[in-house]
Amino acid sequence: MDVIEIIDKKRLKQELSYEEIKYIFEGFLNDEVEDYQMSSLLMAIVLNGMTDEEIFALTDIFINSGDVLDLSNIDGVKVDKHSTGGIGDKTTLIVAPIVASLGVKICKMSGRGLGYTGGTIDKLESIPGFRVSLSEEEVIRQLNDIGIAITSQTKNLVPLDKKVYALRDVTATVESIPLIASSIMSKKIASGADKILIDIKVGSGALIKNERDAKHLSDLMIKIGKKYNREVRTLITDMNTPLGKAIGNSLEVVEVASILRGHGKDTYLFEVCVELASNLVSMALNNSLEDAKKMVLENINNGQAYKKFVEFVKRQGGSLNDLRVSNKSRVVRSDKSGIIKNIDALKIGMLSASLGSQLEKQGDKVDYTVGVVLHKKIGDIVNYGDSLCTIYIGDKPYRNPLDAFTIEEFNS
Ligand code: URA
Repeated sequence: MDVIEIIDKKRLKQELSYEEIKYIFEGFLNDEVEDYQMSSLLMAIVLNGMTDEEIFALTDIFINSGDVLDLSNIDGVKVDKHSTGGIGDKTTLIVAPIVASLGVKICKMSGRGLGYTGGTIDKLESIPGFRVSLSEEEVIRQLNDIGIAITSQTKNLVPLDKKVYALRDVTATVESIPLIASSIMSKKIASGADKILIDIKVGSGALIKNERDAKHLSDLMIKIGKKYNREVRTLITDMNTPLGKAIGNSLEVVEVASILRGHGKDTYLFEVCVELASNLVSMALNNSLEDAKKMVLENINNGQAYKKFVEFVKRQGGSLNDLRVSNKSRVVRSDKSGIIKNIDALKIGMLSASLGSQLEKQGDKVDYTVGVVLHKKIGDIVNYGDSLCTIYIGDKPYRNPLDAFTIEEFNS
């Protein structure tokens, strides 16, 4: 087989066979195919797409490139949830304790922030003492004991995706629905859960910018799940504005605790979390979405979900009492009176990242205490001088984020 012929075939929109995909991708993993050749193939895929058969083949080759987690020693159905990522997305930390408090076992391997979207592992690391890295044995024991474990990768799962993703990140080849579907689903299948819920975020602060692409991604993920005998459900949720009020690691953990204590029931964050948790519960218990939702709301209201969150944090060594947010803050005030029409998720995410809440380059250190707390939401009326948000700052210079708020003046 010839690498150049394979790339050329994709350029000419011809279907690649399983063997051809295996040859070029495994060659890349083994350093036999150069970065520039893989970049060229990836760009041809971005432009010309992939057939379902090609997507299944790539997913299979990704899965087989590393270890697969065996959760068969854990009793009962194991569920997993994944979000395609967004600004202020702390849903895992809310949803996982809710479902675990209802006896549904949830094992979640999470990642760090990517681009401007925060990662669950960074958020958990903001809790002093929290251990984000568990061994496979610890995960299994913890799941059997308390029904919930969130860890960074325990094994060498899907190393090929890791290498391909790093190249996609610097060659403008991330935004390909077939590549995203294979990348995410290979990791979910290798992580071992029986039932998988995918939250596809759509909007300015997300990887997927429109509903059509979200629907396409959803169809592909469900089809891939079927191939591996896994039930996959998807939800398509909004990411044009940040999810919730807090953006930044420890600030988001504070918001998680507040939601789990039943505050913010009128917010979109609460609504999305209840929707996600209800879907997971109904998948695991095979009951209706309506019944599952009643159970979810009951366990938020009776304190069981929050109790499970505290138990989980303690079990992984964290001390919520020692959680810190920066003691240096600035309030950002409106320079006009009117109605808030938009709060740009990407701009707020970029601000939070620039304060140090995420790694911008290798060697940086995350400042867990910085970030932004929004005081207003879309549709709110503001007067001149009203506070729009508070920025929690650390050592880095900060930029006024007024341009993230679109305010329509009353007389315009
Ligand atoms: N997240 C992933 O893990 N892979 C992608 O391709 C995109 C988002």
